Amino acid sequence: MKKIGLLTSGGDSSGMNAAIRSVVHASADRGIRVIGFIQGYQGLIENNFRELDISSVEGIVQRGGTVLRSARCLEFKSDWGQRTSIENISKDEIDGMIILGGDGSLHGAQVLHDLGVPVIGLPASIDNDIYGTDMAIGVDTALNNIVHAVDSLRDTASSHDRAFIMEVMGRSSGYLAFTSAIACAAEAVIIPELPYNLEVIGNRLLEAKKRGMTNSIVIVAEGAASAYAIEMKLKSIAGFETRITVLGHLQRGGDPTVFDRLLARRLAASAVRRLSEGERGCMVGLVKNEIIATPFVDVFSNKKVLDDKSLALARVLSGVA
Ligand code: ADP
Ligand code: F6P
Repeated sequence: MKKIGLLTSGGDSSGMNAAIRSVVHASADRGIRVIGFIQGYQGLIENNFRELDISSVEGIVQRGGTVLRSARCLEFKSDWGQRTSIENISKDEIDGMIILGGDGSLHGAQVLHDLGVPVIGLPASIDNDIYGTDMAIGVDTALNNIVHAVDSLRDTASSHDRAFIMEVMGRSSGYLAFTSAIACAAEAVIIPELPYNLEVIGNRLLEAKKRGMTNSIVIVAEGAASAYAIEMKLKSIAGFETRITVLGHLQRGGDPTVFDRLLARRLAASAVRRLSEGERGCMVGLVKNEIIATPFVDVFSNKKVLDDKSLALARVLSGVA
C-alpha cells in the first residue's frame, strides 16, 4: 500500500483532527502517503484534495471540528456520484480509503467497499448510535459540553426557583440526553427510544419543590420532542416558572477531551495497520476497551441500543416506569 485517501463526513465531531493526525503519522511510519479529500464525499466527487504530510497536521490534535472540513453530500448517493468517486480514486492511484463519520458516512464507506475499494471506517459522531463501538469519536466531548452547560443552568435555576428544559442533540438516539441526565442528576429525561409521561414528571417536580428543592432540570433529546412543547405542558401541570435552553451546535464543538484524543489515536492507528495488512470492508471500534474491527454488514444489520439497566433508569426518569 503506497497511498491512502482520507475524508471526514457528516456532522463533524471533536477528535476528528486527532484522528487525522494519527492516520498521517501511522501511515508515515509505514512509508504510506496520505491525501485528504476536502468536505467529505463532496471532495471525492470533485477530486478536491490535499497531500497530508507530517508538518500539515502539526498543532491540530487539540482542535475541535475537522481541518479536512465536512459535508452532507447528496450527490454521493447517486450512481453518477459514486461512479465519479471511483474514477477519481483510480485516477489518483489511491490504494485504500479511511472514512470518518457517523452512520450515514459509514453507509457511504460500505458503498465504496461494495464497488471494490479497500475501505476502513472510523466511527465519529456525537450521537453514539453506531453498532460496533462503545463510544464514537466526539461523544465524550459533547457530553462534557452538555454537562458544563447544565451545571451553569443549575446555578441560575436555583437562584430563581425555576425549572429549566434543556434540549440536546440526538435525532434518533437518546444517548447524549440520557447520559448527561445521569451525570447532572437531572430530574427527568425525554428520549426517542421511550414514551414519556409529563403528568408524572410534572408531579415529581411539584413534590420536589414541596420538599424544598429550588430548581429542576429536564433534559430532552431533539428527536423525542421540542423543548418548547414540553415546557408548555410542564408549566401547566407543575405551575413552575420555566425557561428553555436549546444547546444546539455548541455541544458539538470545542477542544476534544483527553478521552476523545486517545480514542481517535487508537482507532486511527489500528485502521492504518489493518488497511495496510489487507483488512477491509469494516469499521474499527472500541469494545470493552479493546480495538476491534466489525464488518460493515454487521455494523448495519445490528442496532445499537441502551443497555437494560440504562433503559430501566431512563423509564423512571421519563415517568413511565
Ligand atoms: P452522518 O455520517 O453524521 O450520519 P449523514 O447521515 O448526513 O451524516 O451522512 C453523511 C453523508 O454520507 C451523506 O451526505 C452522504 O454523502 C453519505 N451517505 C449517507 N447515507 C448514504 C447511503 N445510504 N449511501 C451512500 N452514501 C451515503
Ligand atoms: O449526527 C450528528 C448531529 O449532530 C445530530 O445529533 C444532529 O441532529 C445533527 O447532526 C445536526 O445536523 P446539522 O449540523 O446538519 O444541523
